[in-house]
Amino acid sequence: MTLKWRRRDSFDFNWKFFKGDVAEAKNADFDDSKWRSVDLPHDWSIEGPFSQDNPAGGGGAYLPGGVGWYSKRFKLSEQYLVKKIFIEFDGIYKNSDVWVNNHHLGFHPYGYTSFYYDMTPYLNYGDKENILAVRVDNSRQPDARWYTGSGIYRHVWITITDKLHVAQWGTYITTPKISEDFARVVIRTRVVNEYDDEKQCTLTTSIIDQDGNEISTNETQHSIIAHQEHEFIQTFNVQKPHLWSIENPYLYKAYNTLRVGKEPVDDYETTFGIRSILFDADKGFLLNGRQVKIKGVCLHHDGGCVGAAVPEAVLERRLKILKEMGCNAIRCSHYPPAPELLDMCDRMGFLVMDEAFDEWRIGKFKYGYHDYFDEWAIKDLESMIYRDRNHPCIIIWSVGNEIPEQTILPDGPIILKKLVDTVHRLDPTRPVTAACDNIGAEPPTTIEFLELLDVVGYNYVDRWGERKELMYSIDRHLFPKRKMIGTEVSSIMEVRDEYVLEGPKGYISNMIDAEEIWRFTRIHDYVSGMFIWAGIEYLGESRWPYISFVGAPIDRCGFKKDSFYFYKSQWTEEPVLYIFPHWNWKGKEGHVIPVICYTNCDEVELFLNGKSYGKQRYQFPRQGMDPNKGWFWYVKHGFPIPPTTVDLHLLWFVPYEPGTLMAIGRKGDKIVIYKRITTGEPAKIGLEIDKETVIADGRDCFHLTAKILDKDGNIVPTADNMLTFHVEGEGKIIGVDNGDPASHEPFKTNQRRAFHGLCLAIIQATNNPGKITVRVISPNLEPAEITVKSIKP
Ligand code: GAL
Repeated sequence: MTLKWRRRDSFDFNWKFFKGDVAEAKNADFDDSKWRSVDLPHDWSIEGPFSQDNPAGGGGAYLPGGVGWYSKRFKLSEQYLVKKIFIEFDGIYKNSDVWVNNHHLGFHPYGYTSFYYDMTPYLNYGDKENILAVRVDNSRQPDARWYTGSGIYRHVWITITDKLHVAQWGTYITTPKISEDFARVVIRTRVVNEYDDEKQCTLTTSIIDQDGNEISTNETQHSIIAHQEHEFIQTFNVQKPHLWSIENPYLYKAYNTLRVGKEPVDDYETTFGIRSILFDADKGFLLNGRQVKIKGVCLHHDGGCVGAAVPEAVLERRLKILKEMGCNAIRCSHYPPAPELLDMCDRMGFLVMDEAFDEWRIGKFKYGYHDYFDEWAIKDLESMIYRDRNHPCIIIWSVGNEIPEQTILPDGPIILKKLVDTVHRLDPTRPVTAACDNIGAEPPTTIEFLELLDVVGYNYVDRWGERKELMYSIDRHLFPKRKMIGTEVSSIMEVRDEYVLEGPKGYISNMIDAEEIWRFTRIHDYVSGMFIWAGIEYLGESRWPYISFVGAPIDRCGFKKDSFYFYKSQWTEEPVLYIFPHWNWKGKEGHVIPVICYTNCDEVELFLNGKSYGKQRYQFPRQGMDPNKGWFWYVKHGFPIPPTTVDLHLLWFVPYEPGTLMAIGRKGDKIVIYKRITTGEPAKIGLEIDKETVIADGRDCFHLTAKILDKDGNIVPTADNMLTFHVEGEGKIIGVDNGDPASHEPFKTNQRRAFHGLCLAIIQATNNPGKITVRVISPNLEPAEITVKSIKP
């Protein structure tokens, strides 16, 4: 729905940028004509180069920080002279100062919270230009444990509205009663009167369903005195509500119109969902009264080769891949995400833990958030809650990750209480947690600290003492009323498609921890779920030559790693069958190679060149003596083979010979096959795109995966050929990558080596509809070409 009375427009396009510090740039008469033209979101760090000398170090992916300046010129029609005009930043990393026409609007240190300024008193109208100048200071490094990016790396908006208007983030929608038959929806709307006289106003609010039908409307009048605000509270009954769920993420909209007399002056729109959430000490997490195990991932905010400036299309593809893995929840670690991530989670049906901080007063880094905590923490927390509290996807707030104060008395509980009280004041409908990594450690997280949390967040519950085996059960026994969630658990550390056959770095024992924690979480109802660290490889938290962290089932390019199939086999129902490693082991003939299988099939048989290496099956959970499902049941139904292992993977040792390794799985009456073929030499390039058409809006993107193929079309898993991408028509490359954690090749170019046979280019549409043709070439390989249509928005 488009708003009629208020304007909220993107302010992303046509900025100027300068990398460096120029004190005079804040002046309106400063000549910025030589600066580079950029569109936002923009991240200058990702432009590189990688260097061990960059002060951000491995935390920041060895990329540069520094100071940068942005400016934007704009004109405003005289019709807006009587209006209020706000500028809104979704996020600037970090320490930003903003001026308009020489006037300093404000300083905002935290790089992840959204903020806005009222520009009205300082603006020019008609022919006279306005100049917005933004200084961004990310020079003090190291300041984080992960890659942050630098610059105005999220969207910017301009809002033009009446002096009587709905406040910024001014609605709060709750659903205190929900059943299949009806739901009570309460909509609170804060209206601000910035006129010099009292205004009698009427607020009309309608609930609109997904088909655009107005299903309930409410009208309330109130008089607001000059320069005051009033909170309207309107209550609605929705008959036969569509409940928001993971499988059917149904969304409603609340549409406000504000009138003075008969004259409409402002309108506002809020997306929301009708759903109930409950964390229970015995049953774990319940959505709409139904138990749901949280199968989550922690995500950092970068999008791989695009850095921190992540187009929606890149984010959306990543979420789709996570959905395919069976993931149903995201922990925004360790800071508030871009608003569009939450919009997507609402639409796609992900549960979200929205997290505020990685540091309080005690720093983890020399220049972290701790310097600003005392002055800014409550403001930043309020910004997160006001902005995000209408998202149905958010089921829990987190006020911190691995905060050192968790073990310190009295500081820890004193600070925590302030934060928890702030969240409860602004949103009493959701619980608060903090991700604690010292429960069971020495010194331990204090009881006083843990008792202030609505749900206790455990990071790596299996790290300390007896907890290595007993995990949550120790606390379950000691504190039976405690609600628990695995805020962080280990995933599988591996570089995509890289295999060491022998020795301690071999791939064969990688999955033990991940299996153990999932096994415990899956069968204990009282553990509401877990978030693996991490969902997707991210830049930073690395040691040279690595520039990214590899403990995730999906690489920086969005390419699936072996462990993707481990989670998919545990988290989804459709038959999953996957074996590794690849089968190109020239020179290793006769050498015994461990072949691992991730599957949820009832049984799997492995063949090499037609010869069977036997059937295997794992047993989990144990069958016990349930006559409906236990051993008797299997015997009665002629179940083929007894279990061969209690692991959550199958394993064969196979003497290598080139050819075809084939697994045949059976799940119920479905048969599935997975093959690994010894390939020939690289011969040609194969291309795959994630969409056939893009929108010509200067933002939309498609992902082009280039594969190095042998003459028969098999991906060559050892190939690292250099590829060049030539784009013609209405698109441009915004990043190339191959997922190699040790590569220092630049992202912002049109060339890249393949890594284990694969390479990625992300191509963004211009504003003009037309065709985008990408030709990919490499010496000695047959080239390939692909065309995507770019259509009018
Ligand atoms: C955790 C921490 C994460 C990440 C992870 C790496 O302790 O909370 O931010 O650093 O370790 O294993």
